[in-house]
Order: sequence, then structure tokens, then C-alpha cells
Amino acid sequence: METSKSAKIMTIVGARPNFMKAAPIIAAIRTYNERSAAPHGSNDPGNSPLILHNVLVHTGQHYDEAMSDRFFADLNIPKPDVHLGVGSGSHAAQTAEIMKRFEEVLLRERPDLLIVVGDVNSTVACALVASKISFDADGARPLIAHVEAGLRSFDRCMPEEINRIVTDHLANLLFVTEESGLVNLRQEGIPEQKVHFVGNTMIDSLLAFKHKADQSPILNTLGLGGNGSQHGSANGATRYALLTLHRPSNVDQRETFLNILEGLEELSSLCPVIFPAHPRTQKRIAEFGLDRFFSTRNGCQGGEKPKSTEVNRRIRMVEPLGYLDFMCLMGHAAVVITDSGGIQEETTCLGIPCVTVRENTERPITVQVGTNVLAGTSKEGIRRATRQQLESKPARAVPEAWDGRSAERILNVICCQIEKRRSV
Ligand code: UD1
Repeated sequence: METSKSAKIMTIVGARPNFMKAAPIIAAIRTYNERSAAPHGSNDPGNSPLILHNVLVHTGQHYDEAMSDRFFADLNIPKPDVHLGVGSGSHAAQTAEIMKRFEEVLLRERPDLLIVVGDVNSTVACALVASKISFDADGARPLIAHVEAGLRSFDRCMPEEINRIVTDHLANLLFVTEESGLVNLRQEGIPEQKVHFVGNTMIDSLLAFKHKADQSPILNTLGLGGNGSQHGSANGATRYALLTLHRPSNVDQRETFLNILEGLEELSSLCPVIFPAHPRTQKRIAEFGLDRFFSTRNGCQGGEKPKSTEVNRRIRMVEPLGYLDFMCLMGHAAVVITDSGGIQEETTCLGIPCVTVRENTERPITVQVGTNVLAGTSKEGIRRATRQQLESKPARAVPEAWDGRSAERILNVICCQIEKRRSV
């Protein structure tokens, strides 16, 4: 661990949705240190603020350029100090491999505090290691901070739900994004003094990079017309829908996936549907022989050449996009159809109608005050919700504390807790 006037923080990232949640915290640590280093008028070393050293660890859960490196570049995240290079595997194999490799790093670095974000396997694996580590004979170990705590879908078939519950019960500091998180943690008996309502660091990233994202050339690259439109087709831009699907429960069973695609046929007859496809989903499309629903930019995804009217009726599959390009596409879409958690929140903040292809959401605020509608996974449910959302007027009620300052609040709490722990 560090000297009395410096503290070591370790931040974990592993999979795509971690990067935009961790980036603002890493930036806030930089800003905090710059402020601490500035003259503060006190010569009393006892009153001088902490200097924070951040060690950034990438587990390597996601490793493709488009799923990882691109996000580091887009979000100005520094190169990781440690890369565990874990890669893909079954849940048990991936989680165990992260744990084995991370334990060595933790014993070597001995941070004061570990930050884990979101609900992916890297999140739970690293929290579990830290909760049982001993740095000395007294069993010293780092504080564990969980960013995005308290969210619950109440669906334990979802791997992320297990990760959320376990991580929350291991954490010493729980940073909550929305009211439901406070209620859930209270109901699970988590002591209130551990829980801090801070808002949403993913929205910090959205607000910090919105201007840059608006300058992305992606609309022109995809032939959808120039930028400058709000919610759909203003200024001559094409009205289009944006689609993402990657949940195992939606794409790993042929029948379910087929149902969803049939539910989307009506939408793709009305406007282009742009689909940046996750590697998991691309594999399933090939494996299940579902290519007929898709076209690529220059024609058909597979098989014989389609007629041009037929191309318009197909979903247009593109490779996974970087953060800025995706934010730009999302910000100009007429409607977004998704099974992602984060996109429900980003569309709420942007005021873009969203259809969530799931039976439940761990982010109920997006339905209560936001632009999100739960469609389920039936054909009719998807058709109905999509029609409703295409006709809806975009609402812009942004949830409490989704104001771009969540990382700053988190750092304030973290510094207080480190100081407090040292004073006992
Ligand atoms: C993971 C998260 C999920 C998150 C999603 C975002 C867990 C349990 N799931 O799911 O919560 O919403 O990331 O993308 O942590 N693959 C590649 N290249 C990559 C990464 C993955 O080709 O860079 C392929 C591999 O075949 C892999 C499959 O995608 O087996 C799934 O990857 P994995 O990380 O296991 O889960 P995701 O579905 O990405």
C-alpha cells in the first residue's frame, strides 16, 4: 500500500460496456491529482490532499480491435498498466482464469482500493479475488468499490444478474445510478452507510463526448445523409432505425432469434435498419442459417444476389462500431431497438425512442421517466412496441444526477473513505 499522503487505486476493465463507465473515473483521478498538486495555501503537510495512483487493469475479456482498443482511443483511456489477456471461454473458465491471473497482480500491487464497474464476468471475478486476499498477517485487503450497484432484473437466468448480486454483496462502497438501486440494496440488507447515490458514469461519458460524436462521418459512410438532424430525418438525412442484439437469451436459441427477426420485418419495410452486429450474434446468424434477413452495404449477406427492393427490406448488418460512431448513429436514429442495458440509458438521456427486446429491465428508470418501452421477445410484442415508438414524440426527462458529474462524486467518497480507514 502507499504512503500516508498517496493512495493506490486499481481500476478494472474487461468488456466493451466497462470502458465508457470507467473512462470518466480515470479522467477524474487525473483532474483530482492536478488540483492536489496545485498550491493550496497550506504548509501543514498533515492537511495536504492525497495523491492518487491509478493502476488500470484490462482482463482481456474482450480483445477484438472493434470491441476494445477502439474504445480506448475514442474515450482517451490510457493504455492499461496490466493486461491479463484472458480471452473468451465458458463462464466458469473465463471467470476462473481472470481470478487466477488477477490474484498475482493484486498481491504484487497491493492497492488501497479496487474499482469494478458494471456486471460482466471481469467485474465479479476481480471483486471475488479482492474480497479474500490477504496482504499481511492481519489480513489487510483493499476496499472494493462497485460502480453501477443495486440494479436488478430479478431474472437469475441472466448471467449479469448473478454478477450484480455477488459483486454488491462483496463491495464496501456501492455507487448507485438510479432510485431502484437504493431500494433493492435496502431490501437485500446492505447497510446504508455503504451505499452512495451518485448518478451514472456512462452518462458522464455520453455528455463529455457528445460534441465529438456529432462530428463522426458515420452517417455519410453508411449513406444515411449528413449530420445535423435531431431524432430522425431532418435536414435531408435518411430516417433510419438502429438495432443491437447480443444477449445469449435472444440469440443463442434459433427459434427465439428467428421470432425476433420476424418481429422486425415490418420495421425494415418502413426504413433502413442499421445493425452493428456483436461477434457472438454474427456467429449465431451463420450457424442458424439466418442470413436471409440481412444485407451488407453492397448487397446480400449470403447466397444469391437479391433484387434491390428486397435489399431495402433486409436488416443492414455492419461490423461492430467504435464509441463515437455508435453514439452518432444513436443520436440521429428515429428509433433504437436493443437488448443492451446501457443503450436503454443512453437513449433516455438523448431523448431517442427505444424498444427493449427483453421481458424485464434492471434499469426501470428508463421506462418510468425515459424513452424506453419493454417489448418482450414475441413477434407481435416487437411489432407493437416498434410502431408505438416510431409514432412517439421524444421525451427528454433525464433521471436525477445524470448530469456528467458522477465520477467526481465517486472520487470524493473514495478519498474520504481512504482517509477515514487510515485514521483508525
Ligand atoms: C459480455 C457480457 C455482457 C455484455 C457484453 C457486451 C458477461 C457475462 N457478459 O457478453 O454483459 O453485455 O459483453 O458486449 O460478462 N468475442 C469475440 N471478440 C471479442 C469478444 C468476444 O469474437 O472481443 C466472441 C467470442 O466468441 C465469445 C463471444 O463473443 O465467446 C461472447 O463473448 P463474452 O465476453 O463471453 O460474452 P459477451 O456476449 O460479449
